[in-house]
Amino acid sequence: MLLHDQAVKNLGAEDYLVIANEHALLEKFLDNLREACACCKLGEQKSCTTCDPEKRASCQGRLPSFLYYVIDLAAKHFDHEEKIMLSRPHVTEDYRYFQLHHQAHADIMEKLNSLVDKCFALDKLNNPANIYRQFHQTLSDIFAAHDLEFDDPFIGSTKS
Ligand SMILES: [Fe+2]
Ligand SMILES: [Fe+2]
Repeated sequence: MLLHDQAVKNLGAEDYLVIANEHALLEKFLDNLREACACCKLGEQKSCTTCDPEKRASCQGRLPSFLYYVIDLAAKHFDHEEKIMLSRPHVTEDYRYFQLHHQAHADIMEKLNSLVDKCFALDKLNNPANIYRQFHQTLSDIFAAHDLEFDDPFIGSTKS
């Protein structure tokens, strides 16, 4: 994930560290999610048919805690990112790029929360490996799209 990599280069050293560390945590989260169910690990296209029911239930049961973790991580990160943006010269809450970026963060939070609902609505007979793959793909896509769409605006907002 290349979350705002170019953009954050324009930030002050301390702000850069905060943002870079949080982006690294988001990447680590996606890696952990991918490894969470042994059957859905990178390159493995197995399903959980050979796992016993307890193992399946435990894999599926751990998914909400992954989502709660990323919701917390993303909320804190977006908050930091926005505070840093607002601390830049010329950037106010009326600044168009700030508004767009802020709205994109709010949209992501909404999507993450709706994933929790989706997760609890899942049929217990589902194959956890597929569910983990789907959630990993969905979350990777959400963060990658944010990176792409807001990389340039963030560069603009961090230039004084
Ligand atoms: Fe970010
Ligand atoms: Fe952002």
